[in-house]
Amino acid sequence: MLSNILKFFLYKIEPEKAHKLSLVLINKYFAKMPLSSNHLDKNLYQKIFNLSFDNPVGLAAGFDKNAEIYNQVDKFGFGFTEIGTITPKPQEGNLKPRVFRLIQDKAIINRLGFPNEGMNEITKKMKKNIPKGICGVNIGPNKENATSIDDYLLCFDQFFELASYIVINISSPNTPKLRSLHNNEKITELIDAIKKRRAEKKSNVPIILKVSPDIEEDKIEGICNILLEKSIDGVILTNTTIRNKSSLSSEHRIQDGGLSGEPLNEISNKIIQKFYLRLGSSIPIIGAGGVSSGATAYEKIKSGASLLQLYTALIYEGPYVAKKINKELSNLIKLNGYNNISEVIGINCK
Ligand SMILES: Cc1cc2nc3c(=O)[nH]c(=O)nc-3n(C[C@H](O)[C@H](O)[C@H](O)COP(=O)(O)O)c2cc1C
Repeated sequence: MLSNILKFFLYKIEPEKAHKLSLVLINKYFAKMPLSSNHLDKNLYQKIFNLSFDNPVGLAAGFDKNAEIYNQVDKFGFGFTEIGTITPKPQEGNLKPRVFRLIQDKAIINRLGFPNEGMNEITKKMKKNIPKGICGVNIGPNKENATSIDDYLLCFDQFFELASYIVINISSPNTPKLRSLHNNEKITELIDAIKKRRAEKKSNVPIILKVSPDIEEDKIEGICNILLEKSIDGVILTNTTIRNKSSLSSEHRIQDGGLSGEPLNEISNKIIQKFYLRLGSSIPIIGAGGVSSGATAYEKIKSGASLLQLYTALIYEGPYVAKKINKELSNLIKLNGYNNISEVIGINCK
């Protein structure tokens, strides 16, 4: 009820303003509310990347770009969160308006272009408020350095001690040239450089690559081979897509930018299946794109995802969507005769 009233008012406001207001509400009001206990069914528990996940539903990158609510998200049922994308220098991002709600399609198009306060400011905040739960840090280059490995290294140096895991983001469609890093040589160079830096720092923070759903099919095998050869710790599939817009109903379908939410669900599931077929259980997949219910979560896990992330469903289903998904997912696992979520991973690919 409360979340329906909230949605009604938030939809009246321009999306970026509504997002800012949501962050304030989460910190000042929601987080202090006495909530019913999190649904912590043991069948959702997994140990992955040597981290203990009470449930598989994470808050995707982009919602908490500047590290404002990472210590509040467990109250909404999330099992983990990811801040960023963070760049070395602060940047404004693209011109506004740059976020569009496609309500009939339960989707969003955004072309934000990594607006963020920059790594120094965000590190200061995190040092004052150490993450209590599992908190990944998603890093990327500044706009003018889009293919620079140095920018990733600068961010790695800042966050490797604060983050539960580090995400190398090469997949936003809103930083020109960034996606050109989806190339065997570049991926190899990038992973080698970051792994070398991690070894120099004597760290074992997990390193995860976030991939675009728009890669050509014939590139998948090559990328998987590199991930296996380099023993990357994990892969996030997927970021937003620049495809599939013409079939949508909302007037905003013509906007440039990355599409997320329901129309991305099937696209990302197909990519997850293709990666899982090659990676098997050696490299865990975090599945993102259109997760909004127990059924969509279950389908992604069957496609090969070990963990999940969502963003767009928060806009359409409200702040307690993760709680609802966990409850439904736990029931689906039981109903289908499994004892733990890990038994469901990739069963569609066998
Ligand atoms: C408004 C918005 C901003 C986003 N910003 C980022 C970002 O900064 N870095 C990133 O890796 N992904 C970003 N994403 C992509 C999400 O993390 C996620 O991969 C994608 O939206 C698919 O999940 P969803 O369908 O549940 O939204 C953003 C998504 C949205 C909707």
